Amino acid sequence: HELSHANTLRLPCRAEYYARPGTLRELRDTLGQAAAAERKVTILGGGSNVLLPADLPGLVITPDLRQWWLTGAKGESHVGLHVGAGVAWHPLVMEMAARGYWGLENLALIPGLCGAAPIQNIGAYGVELGDVLEAVQIMEIASGELRWLDRAECRLGYRDSIFKHELAGRAVITRLVLRLSRVPTPRLGYGDLARRVGSEPSALDVARAVCAIREEKLPDPAELANAGSFFKNPLVPRDQAEQLLERYPNMPNFPQPGGITKLAAGWLIERCGLKGWRCGAFGVHERQALVLVHFGGGTRQELLEVAGRIAATVEKEFGVTLEPEPRLLE
Ligand code: FAD
Ligand code: EPU
Repeated sequence: HELSHANTLRLPCRAEYYARPGTLRELRDTLGQAAAAERKVTILGGGSNVLLPADLPGLVITPDLRQWWLTGAKGESHVGLHVGAGVAWHPLVMEMAARGYWGLENLALIPGLCGAAPIQNIGAYGVELGDVLEAVQIMEIASGELRWLDRAECRLGYRDSIFKHELAGRAVITRLVLRLSRVPTPRLGYGDLARRVGSEPSALDVARAVCAIREEKLPDPAELANAGSFFKNPLVPRDQAEQLLERYPNMPNFPQPGGITKLAAGWLIERCGLKGWRCGAFGVHERQALVLVHFGGGTRQELLEVAGRIAATVEKEFGVTLEPEPRLLE
């Protein structure tokens, strides 16, 4: 099964087998068959945060669970949003914002499906999925059993969760429960978001402003293949950030709890003179240095080499290690 157009980086990829179960029962049957045939199982959502190999052995599953519904009585301050893993993230964000339910609007225009959102605890413009996530339903790949994890059990962090550790490769996320507010709760602290909206913005105003900012900087994968930020923003000890600030007083830095400071990888890459740099089929986006783009005809190996050169340059200049954000699937 051809997956070259099923990943936003457009890396060439062929899966041995592919399935798109549309119900929990079908998903359980599919997992059972894979187990009986001793096939490796890989879960793929919208393919917007993966580095696919040329050949993917075993069975690739995209859970196509597309139901969603709201819970909660009319007079209550919050609503519950139950959403299947196969629902596309961005249209859902716009739908909730249009209904005046607050919580997702800063996360507009993030590609992909809802089932992937907890994997790296998607975040943007000062909000993370964890701010609204109540629970995640999973199906264990080995047993087909369903189980619920509450937010604490998901161990969400910056671009991190239990699904990248203990549960990596072991669970299919099948459903999310989110808690949205009927009471306006605009979060406009990031960048120039506040300047972009009026004094009493609606949730939809905020979502549209986020879309506008993103469209100015981030390439549309439909036009130029990419996976969003290629590296995570590095977390360094505060002392190290302060030493760097002596040398680079303008360096963006975001102190976090626990004596840690988050640096802006895009700034570090740009300072190395790499913004707009092209190397063969890949390059550093000219408007956002954290985004690597694929002009076509390249391979994952070449991309990893280009990324390695960028990381080595940043390491040499700043003594800071960059780690890729997209998941390397084998
Ligand atoms: P995929 O890329 O298909 O999968 C990602 C990982 O999740 C893989 O390891 C896969 O195995 C696993 N997975 C997917 N679905 C499931 C499931 N149901 N159960 C178990 N495992 C699963 N991310 C942000 O956080 N913030 C941003 O602002 C942002 N902006 C982006 C902008 C662009 C232009 C692009 C291309 C990407 C951006 N991303 C951003 C990254 C990406 O959109 C998110 O990580 C998104 O959640 C990935 O969803 P997906 O369905 O495409 O997942
Ligand atoms: N910067 C530069 N040059 C660049 C890029 C950024 O100097 O080429 C500076 C900016 O001026 C700003 C700082 O770096 O001071 C941060 O930039 P920006 O607000 O564009 O965000 P980012 O840190 O580059 C992160 C996320 C994005 C998310 C945005 C908005 C990570 C790895 N990336 O990017 O998420 O959309 O913030 O919140 O945390 C993704 O994960 O794929 C992604 C796109």
